[in-house]
Amino acid sequence: MRSHSFALFFERRFSKSALMALVFAPLLLSCGSTSSVEVAPNPVSNPPATTPSLLDAYPPLPAGPAPGASPEARAIASKIGRGINFGNMLEAPNEGDWGLRVEDRFIDLVGPGKFSSSVRLPVRWSNHATPDANATIDAQFFARVDSVVDRLLARGVIVVLNMHHYRQLDGDNPDDKERAVPAEVVDVRLLAMWKQIAERYANRSPNLLFEIYNEPHGRLEPKWNDMASRAVRLIRKSNPTRVLIVGPTFYNSATKLSELVVPPDPHLLLTVHNYDPFDFTHQGAEWVVPVKPTGVTCCSDSQKQAIVRNLDLAVSAAKQLNYPVFVGEFGAYSKAPDASRAAYLRFIRDSMEARALPWFYWELASGFGIFDLATNQFRSQLFDELYGR
Ligand code: BGC
Repeated sequence: MRSHSFALFFERRFSKSALMALVFAPLLLSCGSTSSVEVAPNPVSNPPATTPSLLDAYPPLPAGPAPGASPEARAIASKIGRGINFGNMLEAPNEGDWGLRVEDRFIDLVGPGKFSSSVRLPVRWSNHATPDANATIDAQFFARVDSVVDRLLARGVIVVLNMHHYRQLDGDNPDDKERAVPAEVVDVRLLAMWKQIAERYANRSPNLLFEIYNEPHGRLEPKWNDMASRAVRLIRKSNPTRVLIVGPTFYNSATKLSELVVPPDPHLLLTVHNYDPFDFTHQGAEWVVPVKPTGVTCCSDSQKQAIVRNLDLAVSAAKQLNYPVFVGEFGAYSKAPDASRAAYLRFIRDSMEARALPWFYWELASGFGIFDLATNQFRSQLFDELYGR
């Protein structure tokens, strides 16, 4: 049985919260700038803190403007097309805890000439790493991820390998079967794990992309730009040109792209998630508290507007930042009425494609799934709306 950090999940992508953030952000910013003029820090009487930090081993990139995406990053972005998340598999506390494992039959579905040749592979590394600052990743787990990554790459698939569900990093409670780690090592473990992952896969095909962290939120929000910069610098030591992916805070909300400080590196792509209208996409979802009523249909004009608003924000921010953006997650849970689910998928797919946004559906074979495990077939209507003509 899967369990999530529910109260926060409820807040996620909640349009009202997003709106409040938008309304109050300029106000807070203007307060901040006034007070910094009045009480400018005196470098002599207020020397910078010198307490050594575990993070010192992983310095950020020197600050500077992000140069815009390289031709290599742009070429990868244009190859993503219509992707699929292998969700609820390797990002469960342990593979299988949420009823799914990565199976050969899933891997056989993807690749050039198949319905999709881009797979986002969410992985809960943290629960398979020692609970100390070194975060040594378990050898068997690493070997398991190797086998999935290598089989996908061998098929010519673009693989987005990420770090998913490190609950304490966001200030959430650990899930059932998730081991807690001491507070002082929470942040440094993100980097210690990336050091190992990056070194391990340094010689893999350029079709392997690393996404630094899924849906940063909560506790991580004020630290995110700094942590992302540290992670990029660290990964670059072993992977000088691999395409890396960063997304904004508030669960990768496009409304937060304006606060993302893109690390000054050319081989980057941006990502956002879009689950609006949340009342529709997450109706009946057991991990959202309180559980949202079912029977919500889609798509009225205002629902359509909510969907495209986020897409338009993503497109305009990406243009301004000069990096391609893709939609790493969107989808509607199985409890939504069938006809509306199909209408939603068609609408959002057409809207993304009209904006030349590559995408990954959430997800293959679980509660949002397009593939029916029992019949070993795609659910034809959902499949057609997404991947058909
Ligand atoms: C989470 C999943 C969840 C999905 C839809 C993802 O980001 O990682 O666990 O099912 O969003 O809510």
